[in-house]
Amino acid sequence: MFDKPRLLQIGSVTNRMKERFEAEFRVDVLFDLADRGAFLKAEGPDFTAIATDGHWGVPPDVLEALPNLKVVSSYGVGYDAIDAVGAAARGILVAHTPDVLNDEVADTAVMLWLAVSRRLVPADAWARSGDWAEKGNFPLTRSVQNRTVGIVGFGRIGQTIARRTEAFGARVLYFARGPKDVPQEFCASLTDMAARSDALFVITPGGAATRHLINAEVIDALGPDGILINVSRGSVVDEPALVDALEAGRLGGAGLDVFEAEPVIPDPLKAMENVVLTPHIGSASVETRRAMGDLVCDNLSQFLKDGTVLTPVPECAGLQ
Ligand code: 8YV
Repeated sequence: MFDKPRLLQIGSVTNRMKERFEAEFRVDVLFDLADRGAFLKAEGPDFTAIATDGHWGVPPDVLEALPNLKVVSSYGVGYDAIDAVGAAARGILVAHTPDVLNDEVADTAVMLWLAVSRRLVPADAWARSGDWAEKGNFPLTRSVQNRTVGIVGFGRIGQTIARRTEAFGARVLYFARGPKDVPQEFCASLTDMAARSDALFVITPGGAATRHLINAEVIDALGPDGILINVSRGSVVDEPALVDALEAGRLGGAGLDVFEAEPVIPDPLKAMENVVLTPHIGSASVETRRAMGDLVCDNLSQFLKDGTVLTPVPECAGLQ
C-alpha cells in the first residue's frame, strides 16, 4: 500500500498539482500536521521529496529532520527561503521554476510603473466617487514615455522588463554583478544609476547578499520625481527608509508587490496616494501559475525517472 515514495508538501498547491503529486507519491502536508515535531521525528527519515514554494521554502527544522531527502521542487523562481548551498552539500537537488514566469512578472512591474506614474488608483477613485462631476477634471499626471529607467538585477526577468519599457521609448540602464553582452548600459554604481533614473525597477534575487541593497542613499538618489518599483523580494528594500523618504517627499512614488514581512504591509504605505500596493501577485495569473505548477511536477517526475531535474537552481547544477 505504501510503496510510493513519500513527498512532504509545504505551502498551498493547485488541484492540478495535487493530483499529479498523488499519482506518483504518498503525500503529507506539513501545515496539516497536528504535531509537526513528533511527526518529523518519527517519519522524517521516510521522505525523499519536498514540494514547496518561494514564500515558505524549506524551514531549517524540516531540512534537518529529513536525512534521506533527495529532491526539493519549488513553485517559484526565487529560492532565497531554501538553503540551496546546504542542500547541495548534502547531495539534495533543488529545482525551481525559471523562465515560465518572466513575461508575467515583467507585466506586473510595468503595470505598477504605469499605475504610479498615471495615478491610476486615485483616478479610479475620482471617477467612482463623483469628484469628476463635483471637482472637474482629474489633475494631470506624469508620462511614462521616453524615460530613463534603471533596472537592478539584469537576469531573465530584468531583461524582459527592459524590452517592455523600451516599447515606451525608455533608455535602459542596469546594475548587476558585472556587465553583460547586451545593448543596454551597465552601471557599476547603483547610487549613480538611481540618480540618473526616472524609475528604478528592482528584480534582483532576495537573500543575505542583496538585503537592503536599496537603502536610504539609493532612494535619495532616485529623488522626489523618481519612482521605485519592487517585484523581487521585500528584503531587498530598506522598508523603513522607503517609508521615511516617501513621507518626507524625498521620493516621488512607489509600486510595491513585495514586502519585508509579508503579508504585513507598513500602515503608512497604505495611506499614501503616490504608492500602489499589490499582494505579491507578480506571477499570479491562471496561465503562468499553471505553467509553474506543471514544471514543479515535471521536475519531480523527472527525478523519479532518472534522478535528475529539468530546472535545477545554479547551486545544485553540478550534482547532475
Ligand atoms: C511566488 C515568486 O509567489 O517566483 C517567485 O519567486 O515570488 C512567486 O512566483 C512565490 O514562489 C510564492 O509562491
